[in-house]
Amino acid sequence: MNYRLAMTTPNTSHPSGRLAGKTAVITGGSNGIGRACSERFAAEGANVLIADLLIEPGEAAVEAINASGGTARFVQLEAASQEANEAMAAAAVEHFGTIDVVVTAAGVSHGEYRSGDLEGGMKRMQKAAEAAAVNPAASLVDLDIDDWRRVLDVNLTGTLLAIQSTASVMLDQGKPGSIVTIASIAAKDPLWGSPSYPVSKAGVWMLTKNAARTLAPLGIRVNAIGPGFIETNMTAVLSEVDEYNKMILGSTPMGRKGKPSEIASVALFLASDDASFVTGELIHPDGGWFTG
Ligand SMILES: NC(=O)c1ccc[n+]([C@@H]2O[C@H](COP(=O)([O-])OP(=O)(O)OC[C@H]3O[C@@H](n4cnc5c(N)ncnc54)[C@H](O)[C@@H]3O)[C@@H](O)[C@H]2O)c1
Repeated sequence: MNYRLAMTTPNTSHPSGRLAGKTAVITGGSNGIGRACSERFAAEGANVLIADLLIEPGEAAVEAINASGGTARFVQLEAASQEANEAMAAAAVEHFGTIDVVVTAAGVSHGEYRSGDLEGGMKRMQKAAEAAAVNPAASLVDLDIDDWRRVLDVNLTGTLLAIQSTASVMLDQGKPGSIVTIASIAAKDPLWGSPSYPVSKAGVWMLTKNAARTLAPLGIRVNAIGPGFIETNMTAVLSEVDEYNKMILGSTPMGRKGKPSEIASVALFLASDDASFVTGELIHPDGGWFTG
């Protein structure tokens, strides 16, 4: 592979940052957890490539980072597309010369999920509640197979494709790296309703361990974060319904949802040399979800 010289002025505004001089690729970086990671990593000196399906919030995130002295670029990504993942990795090399750190935060909660579409999310939840009133097993026995496939395609296959494309660059360049996948408490807890999301996240967890074992001798660490409920577009629809809100807070000993920045802090630890002997782990910033 030919790597062109870096064309974007590197982030030199945070020379003592924990990711100074590194390049980070963040999928799902336009919103929520991915955006918080993008901002935090840039503040720690990384050059950041935000890759996301949604262009407008992605470009807004880039603008905010660049305005505060960081260095970021945006590339559109369909996480489930191999071609798009390869183009993402090539764009990182084109702009910044290399890839050191990756966070795979692109994800969906159901097949029709579109980040920020609260109205669509509410309609969908209403439909699911009506189906469950008729048949309590509807989320399983009547699960639309295309919906299941889309969740698996984006969350699980998308994570694999991002790992493949970015780890290939690290390996070709003979450089160490750190990959952080975003799983969920749903990797271990089936939660409620459709099996698609928890199955995809359990898959992300096993994929992370497999990749960690394969890549450890080659200098690449791979770890997963399994957040509890975090205040993002993805959970906004649940916050609107008192019953769900109570259920979530009742199962979270800290009695609140987390903030995206609280996940970015864990991602920063895993991405940085502070975690130099950590690989194949799943860390749960979840307010105590699994203490019960
Ligand atoms: N919010 C939570 O409570 C929570 C808990 C555990 C895990 N997670 C996981 O964290 C990750 C980030 O979610 P979030 O809560 O920040 O939600 P979010 O909607 O704010 O962010 C998700 C991002 O992924 C992008 N995305 C979705 N489908 C994509 C696709 N096909 N290709 C490229 N980009 C795509 C969206 O455009 C969006 O910017 C997801 O993997 C989610 O499953 C979230």
